[in-house]
Amino acid sequence: MNIQWYPGHMTRARRMMQDNIKLIDLVIELVDARLPLSSRNPDIDELARGKSRMILLNKADMADERVTAQWEDWFRQQGLYVLRIDSRKKSDVKNITPVIAQACSEKIERDRKRGIKNRPVRAMIAGIPNVGKSTLINTFAGRSSAKTGNKPGVTRGAQWIKAGKNVEMLDTPGLLWPRFDDPETGIRLAVSGSINDDILNISDLAIWLISYLKENYGSVIESRYNVSAGAERPEEILGDIALSRNCITKGGEPDPLRAARILIDDFRSARLGHISLEKPEKI
Ligand code: G4P
Repeated sequence: MNIQWYPGHMTRARRMMQDNIKLIDLVIELVDARLPLSSRNPDIDELARGKSRMILLNKADMADERVTAQWEDWFRQQGLYVLRIDSRKKSDVKNITPVIAQACSEKIERDRKRGIKNRPVRAMIAGIPNVGKSTLINTFAGRSSAKTGNKPGVTRGAQWIKAGKNVEMLDTPGLLWPRFDDPETGIRLAVSGSINDDILNISDLAIWLISYLKENYGSVIESRYNVSAGAERPEEILGDIALSRNCITKGGEPDPLRAARILIDDFRSARLGHISLEKPEKI
């Protein structure tokens, strides 16, 4: 599967982020908790150099809790502040503020020594498309949020949103682009719904997902679709799903394409349960 990102789009997104990053203290990097590495762009290390950093494992409501805990440890071991959230939930999002204070403690201390009190931390949300940046900004800022208006030096049109007492967030998130160096990265992103369906071969994705689930989440397919996933090949299992879901072609054959769509849709809506698509390697 060959997935391309338009170079022009990429360059513009990068330039915009470089411009905006000058204005902020903290980069809040959003990744998909189900595939934290595949949904990350390592260029963030260079882009965010010298800034405080934190990682949010978003969509944690859909991920496997045990694996998410492993990822939290993994990111902490890399010296990053990390939190798991469902960015649609206010109760989750309010846990971010104390972690921001920790992540920016040096800046806050520097301000205090200079006699500056309560200068807000300025943060930017960054992440690949569809990872939940807008959702987070909306939940974080809340209904009562007030825009604090233009400030000198802010890219035209950019606005600061007050998020709690001591945080201001740029309303324009930093757009990172996925990296497809490893073909499985592209597949994981596609299965999770981060990549436009038009350019995907949904049957290939379903076959990959069936193999992955067989290996890592034993009985999920059997119990959801009432098929035997035992020793069968993924292609055969897809055919069985088609039969069990009444996906039959006009010629009376099982229709694997429709079954593939059902399977992928069920995964994306978490109807298959809490599933993570990658685990951290030991470091
Ligand atoms: P972006 O700005 O980074 O591109 O992403 P955006 O906020 O638009 O979110 C992309 C999709 O992910 C949205 O769903 C959004 O509701 C969903 N989402 C964001 N955060 C979470 C989360 O923590 N948990 C879950 N389960 N979903 C989350 P959508 O189907 O595209 O739109 P809609 O149906 O919500 O309108």
